[in-house]
Amino acid sequence: MQNQYMSDKKRIIIFDTTMRDGEQSPGATMSLEEKIQIARCFDELGIDVIEAGFPIASPGDFEAVTEISKVLKKSIPAGLSRATKKDIDACKDSLKHAKRFRIHTFISTSPLHMKHKLNKSPEEVLGLIKESVTYASKFTDDVEWSCEDGTRTDLDFMCKSVELAIKCGAKTINIPDTVGYSVPSEFKKIIETLVNKVPNIDKAILSTHCHNDLGLAVANSLAGVMAGARQIECTINGIGERAGNAALEEVVMAMRTRNDLMPYSTGINTRLLSKASKIVSNATGFPVQFNKAIVGKNAFAHESGIHQDGMLKNRNTYEIMTPESVGVKKTSLVMGKHSGRHAFRDKLSDMGYVDVTDDIIDIAFGKFKVLADKKKHVYDEDIAALVDDSLIKEDNLIKLKSLKVFAGTGEPQKAIMKLEVMGEVKEATESGDGPVDAIFKCIKKLYPHEVNLQLYNVHAVTEGTDAQATVSIRIEENGKTTVGQAANTDTLVASADAYLNALNKLIIKRKKTAPEPMDLSGSKYVREKDGTI
Ligand code: KIV
Ligand code: ZN
Repeated sequence: MQNQYMSDKKRIIIFDTTMRDGEQSPGATMSLEEKIQIARCFDELGIDVIEAGFPIASPGDFEAVTEISKVLKKSIPAGLSRATKKDIDACKDSLKHAKRFRIHTFISTSPLHMKHKLNKSPEEVLGLIKESVTYASKFTDDVEWSCEDGTRTDLDFMCKSVELAIKCGAKTINIPDTVGYSVPSEFKKIIETLVNKVPNIDKAILSTHCHNDLGLAVANSLAGVMAGARQIECTINGIGERAGNAALEEVVMAMRTRNDLMPYSTGINTRLLSKASKIVSNATGFPVQFNKAIVGKNAFAHESGIHQDGMLKNRNTYEIMTPESVGVKKTSLVMGKHSGRHAFRDKLSDMGYVDVTDDIIDIAFGKFKVLADKKKHVYDEDIAALVDDSLIKEDNLIKLKSLKVFAGTGEPQKAIMKLEVMGEVKEATESGDGPVDAIFKCIKKLYPHEVNLQLYNVHAVTEGTDAQATVSIRIEENGKTTVGQAANTDTLVASADAYLNALNKLIIKRKKTAPEPMDLSGSKYVREKDGTI
């Protein structure tokens, strides 16, 4: 792929690391099924390289990289590895089903990291760069090398390391601002120095990987591009370690909108950005902040009278890009209780739900009728929540049959619940510290299990007190996590459904065996006491 884009000097390679660096956000674990759904969406979105995981890190990561590499049609799958043979072996083994793949290997090069993290001299680090890049190049001609903590690395040493990595076969050189410490002028200078001083730099593509600790990840990435970088590493919604990574949707739309100043192109179909943002948010359970650039709920909302007046006269007065260009349709009040099945089906296909089965449409339509009776305005977002909820519930082993909740001041809150547990209907009554606690206790009584509740998140799908609530829940059992979601105008019913959805996924996950291609439980890939592998 390098050669293809090296001839087009204005083409920026988009390298997505949502499922690797993004998943390193505390609490952002995604299930295999969710990762596969994300991978399919990213492939369609036009992402060039998808870093699917860190295969050595866990059997789950190994399996995810393997399965993702099988479903990608256009995007190139990549796996991360440290500068060791066993890491690189795990990468190439997990990626072996893909026609083309990338091995991304890294080592720290800053004085601070070399001394305190690696306990190695600069010469020893150079030795490891040579060994690891040469070894990885045996398995693919698409090797990427990263100097971790690049922006705190001595520039002469960085030039030496980069020259060596290219000599050993690296085709992409990635400069991470690992701790989000750099500023645009400094980051630009680093890239310019590499362009001007590394003799074989024309044999590789320079890449940016900026973290957002100072809120500068996007600005630094673009400064890198203006200095000569031709790959940006980024994540959807900007998720990632600590404050996150450069947001994919922001770098792409910045280059598109200010093409007069940044005349670069990408392969991204920007109309799918909003969809990708929603899928990632649903899988991670991380809501997108309302004022988030490009994909936030308010990114195209004009509230003030002066702005609304300007917009009506000419959209350009307050709109620098159209909502349609990122796949946001203006919320429209289109469906009501008199709308029929046909209109409902047409609406779904307008909203991009083309592969939904008749059964799911029937279920969702039934729920739509109930909702339209209860709720004054039914928006597109409400319909999307109904269909997503119906899709989620398709294979549930445990189903909610009925729920009554007693809440309020004074009395302890109480829930009476009927569940169908693998075909058998059971009932329980429990009180708790709040109605949600009482509901979760009922579920535990009817289907005894021990899990850690890691996340409980409620947000309204649309405005108003009659809005549907979407509840996201993440539970964990022996290191396995699942995220459940549900929507309902009754927040407590949505809470019960979301918990059951996460639990159903966990039951399915329990049944799954370890990945076939490699036994990671043996001594070859084990986690050491310090947390490394
Ligand atoms: O931030 C970082 O340094 C990384 C590397 C592994 C590329 O994520
Ligand atoms: Zn990173």
